[in-house]
Amino acid sequence: MVEQRLAHIRTFGCQMNERDTETIQGLLQQEGYGFTDNPEAADLILYNTCCVRENPERKVYGQVGMLQELKAKKPGLIIGICGCMPQQREELPVLLERLPHVDLFFGTHNIYRLPELLHRICATGERVVEILDEGGEPVEGLPAMRSSSFKAFVTIMHGCNNFCSYCIVPYVRGREHSRSPQAIVEEVQSLANGGVKEVTLLGQNVNSYGKDLQSDADFADLLEMVNQVPGIEWIRFTTSHPKDISDKLIRQLGRLEKVCEHLHLPVQAGSNNVLQRMNRRYTREYYLEIVERVRSQVPGISLTTDIMVGFPGESDADFADTLSLVEEVGFDSAFTFIYSPRKGTPATEMPDQVPEEVKKERIYQLIELQNKISLERNQAQVGSEVEVLVEGASKSDTLLLTGKTRTSKTVLFPGSQDLIGQLVRVKITAAQTWSLTGELI
Ligand code: SAH
Ligand code: SF4
Ligand code: F3S
Repeated sequence: MVEQRLAHIRTFGCQMNERDTETIQGLLQQEGYGFTDNPEAADLILYNTCCVRENPERKVYGQVGMLQELKAKKPGLIIGICGCMPQQREELPVLLERLPHVDLFFGTHNIYRLPELLHRICATGERVVEILDEGGEPVEGLPAMRSSSFKAFVTIMHGCNNFCSYCIVPYVRGREHSRSPQAIVEEVQSLANGGVKEVTLLGQNVNSYGKDLQSDADFADLLEMVNQVPGIEWIRFTTSHPKDISDKLIRQLGRLEKVCEHLHLPVQAGSNNVLQRMNRRYTREYYLEIVERVRSQVPGISLTTDIMVGFPGESDADFADTLSLVEEVGFDSAFTFIYSPRKGTPATEMPDQVPEEVKKERIYQLIELQNKISLERNQAQVGSEVEVLVEGASKSDTLLLTGKTRTSKTVLFPGSQDLIGQLVRVKITAAQTWSLTGELI
């Protein structure tokens, strides 16, 4: 009997990439591959990469660089790099040169070609590089090996048209292409049939969903369609761009019972100068107005955001505007980033790049402020009763279960592992900065 070939896959970056890895695994499974967490046991090692900041790129060079030894010991091993990194025109030649032991490079637009590319390597023994500049219409009907039986990501659109001046994503993911509402609803229905309770609809800017389609359906309509799928209990979505959030969508958030009370609304900065140079196309005032409208339609909604410090030209006064906005909104939590120059984006060429020490000092201040606010917002939950989707055993204390509330807060509580994948009710008894503690009701 021929032994089953094993693949080891490492995934960096956003949920889009996590979802793509599920497709990659589905394709490999069809090719007869099994999967292993141990790179030494693998016949195929694949890195699904991210290039949104320098850090994840550096890790890939480091980790894949170290595989050279393994490859020398095991010549039949195939090593591949896919995802956003090789999709950058200027990075690809660097990857090809610095990682000579990598056999396969493909990008974000041609995942479906993986089986064919692997066959080509086996047939010729030569390095295969296939990167397409544009994806065109989304490819439907690809297999997927889902990482959870009760929650799932559903990509509703690919690409981004916004070209925020710091961001590499539009260059590596191409222009916006929405999937048809029918294809999305079918996928959600089949997930529900398999027992999935929570779906997260994914796009770089879900608020512009459907603008490129013949049909009139916009994102608010799509939410309504997904809301009608029997078996689905919770609906989440990410990411929303503030400039494209419509009143119709805000009304749907309050109206559709399955749509969770959580909005991730990246603000990036609190200063109008900086927002303008970032090409975000909204002002601080407009952002605050949206927050107010959302909170009045959906009382108790949790708001989370992405914020960047050290954008070129960010002065002390600009940064003070970010701190004051954070204070004014009172986000439930925030992802905070140090601006990282990306080759080929306009911001890299802007004057007055902020020195590293200043960036660091600013991010510490921002994190300290946000932690204080997160703790306060969590403390306000103590005494309340919430619904929780149980996700698994806690990593820090395996006697505890961990799950998420509709408002996307992590809750830890004692309970039996049989509850994993179930919706339960929990009374909140204590609050920490990043989580709540409670007991089953
Ligand atoms: N499409 C989403 C998120 C894309 S990337 C949106 O528009 O919000 C996720 C986050 O990474 C961004 O919100 C931004 O805060 C951060 N980011 C993007 N490019 C970056 C860069 N060059 N340096 C630092 N952070 C960056
Ligand atoms: Fe990047 Fe802006 Fe598009 Fe988000 S909206 S992916 S930050 S260009
Ligand atoms: Fe990174 Fe690509 Fe996502 S650059 S953030 S993995 S779209």
